[in-house]
Amino acid sequence: MLRVLVCVSGGGTNLQAIIDGTKDGRITNAEIVRVISNNRKAYALTRAEENGICAVCVSPKDFGDREQFNRAFMDAVEEAQPDLIVLAGFLVVLPKELVGKYVNRIINIHPALIPSFCGKGYYGLTVHEKALERGVKVTGATVHLVDEGTDTGPILLQKAVEVEDGDTPETLQRRVMEQAEWVLLPKAIDLIANGRIDLDRLGGTVGV
Ligand code: GAR
Repeated sequence: MLRVLVCVSGGGTNLQAIIDGTKDGRITNAEIVRVISNNRKAYALTRAEENGICAVCVSPKDFGDREQFNRAFMDAVEEAQPDLIVLAGFLVVLPKELVGKYVNRIINIHPALIPSFCGKGYYGLTVHEKALERGVKVTGATVHLVDEGTDTGPILLQKAVEVEDGDTPETLQRRVMEQAEWVLLPKAIDLIANGRIDLDRLGGTVGV
C-alpha cells in the first residue's frame, strides 16, 4: 500500500475526490495516512476527520519564524512516513529541505494547463481570472511533480476544459474542478500506486 500524505489549505474538494477515489475503487493500493493543513479553519480538516483520517494543523502563525515553522512541518511529514506527498490546494511554499528529501515523491494539482497561467502568484481563483482576462477558449488542470521551482516540475497528467461564453472566474473554477481536477488527481495517485507512472524515470536525477 502506498502511504499518501495530503497537504491542504482550504475547502478540500480535491482531498474529497481522493477520499472518494479510495472508497469507490478508482484508487487502489493506496491509503491516506495523514492530512496536514496550514490553516486551522480549513474545511479540509473536517473532511479528513469525518473520514477517520489523522488530520493535523501546522500554521506559520503558531511559530516565531519561518525556520521554526519549517521544522514543525517537516516533523509532521516525517511522522506520517509517506511514500507520496500530494499537494491538493496547498498554498504554502514547501521547506527546501523537504523538496530535497522527497525528490520525485511530491505531486501538485494546478488549475490550468501548465505552462500557461502558472508560477508565482498564480493560485486558486486568480488563475481563472487571468485565463478569462487573456480570453483563452480552452483551459484545464495539470498534475505535476514538485521541484524547487513554482509549478516547474515534470508534467504527469493534463486535461483540457472548454471556456464558455459568460463564464466568471467562479463558474470556470467549478468546471475545471469537476471536469479535470477531481478526475486527474485520483487518477495520478492510482497510476503511481500501481506502478503505471514510474516517478523515478520522470524527474530529478534518478535514472537519468
Ligand atoms: C484547487 O483548484 C487547486 O487546483 C488550487 O487550489 C484549489 C484548492 O481547492 N491549487 C492551486 O492553485 C495551486 N497553485 P480545494 O481546497 O477545494 O481542493
